[in-house]
Amino acid sequence: MAGRHVIFGCNGPVGMNLMERLAAAGEEVVGVCRSGKSAAPAGVRIEAGDVRNLQDARRIAKGAKVVYCCIGIPYDTWQDQWPAIVDGLLAAAESAGARLVFADNVYCYGPQQRPLKEDMPLTDYGRKPALRARMVRTMLNAHAQDRAPVVVVRASDFYGPRVTNAALGEIVFGRLLAGKSAQILGKADILHTFAYVPDLGRALVTLANAADDAYGRAWHVPSAPALTQREVVERVASILGVRPKIQTLPAFAVRMVGLVNPILRELYELMYQWQRPFLVDHSDFAARFWSDFTPLDEGLRATAEWYRKRSG
Ligand SMILES: NC(=O)c1ccc[n+]([C@@H]2O[C@H](COP(=O)([O-])OP(=O)(O)OC[C@H]3O[C@@H](n4cnc5c(N)ncnc54)[C@H](OP(=O)(O)O)[C@@H]3O)[C@@H](O)[C@H]2O)c1
Repeated sequence: MAGRHVIFGCNGPVGMNLMERLAAAGEEVVGVCRSGKSAAPAGVRIEAGDVRNLQDARRIAKGAKVVYCCIGIPYDTWQDQWPAIVDGLLAAAESAGARLVFADNVYCYGPQQRPLKEDMPLTDYGRKPALRARMVRTMLNAHAQDRAPVVVVRASDFYGPRVTNAALGEIVFGRLLAGKSAQILGKADILHTFAYVPDLGRALVTLANAADDAYGRAWHVPSAPALTQREVVERVASILGVRPKIQTLPAFAVRMVGLVNPILRELYELMYQWQRPFLVDHSDFAARFWSDFTPLDEGLRATAEWYRKRSG
């Protein structure tokens, strides 16, 4: 695929995986973050820029064939920052005549009783799910108005090398490795789909290369069959060679701590994801692209290895 790939939010686990993947394929890659500092792979150019600044966004995207959004920001800044980030992404893609590939989560469906599917209506539930739904509507409207081709690539809660700030991150891998109890949200014995970051990176590249008719909609990233959180912790503990100690954080505890902790306050409205089965159906993607997701044990082993190396 000739042409430049511009990755906004290059320093997170998703952006790093995408940079590595595209650079390894010999693509021209520009990574963007506000600091301008990155441990990017050789050959990748890093630009300092804030996508909310439309001049930055347009300048950096110049010559791009594909613009990606892998940006992540703290929960308690979402309402302030995300709308401006979406405006900047659309300005970047539109001015460059580029495609926009957006790495999304699955909040936009809100609470559901059945496995999540791309054609479910967008929610108006809560603060963050309703916000994600509005963001998607804005981007897909821009697609419909021919401002830029937009595709949304959705993954459930993810894990993988470099993933720390996530339910299957530091509070499971980091704590078990330190001899502490893994902390899990909500209920231990309900099924939960986890996505593996390298599978998300691969899906982003797949969609960047896909035919035009794959655009203007969302796709779910292939993920391993769901296990319960307890089963996942047991597998992680077995890989790390430690006892699978679990401490659960039930919704009422999140609510209580949220009185003094702004991030946990934001988490409370999302506890529906951790109290009933939370399953993501990727059959649309599998029927059109690929379905050989990374087996859970393989992903957990690679993640454990990253945590081990990090702790020396
Ligand atoms: N956590 C999950 O389980 C999960 C699951 C599915 C999807 N997702 C989605 O995946 C996306 C990426 O997540 P992630 O964890 O890889 O991201 P992340 O590590 O939270 O953030 C990635 C980078 O974004 C950059 N950034 C923040 N604001 C920016 C701005 N205004 N302009 C340019 N760069 C900016 C930051 O670098 P600087 O500070 O240097 O700018 C940061 O290194 C998010 O949208 C997230 O919602 C997350």
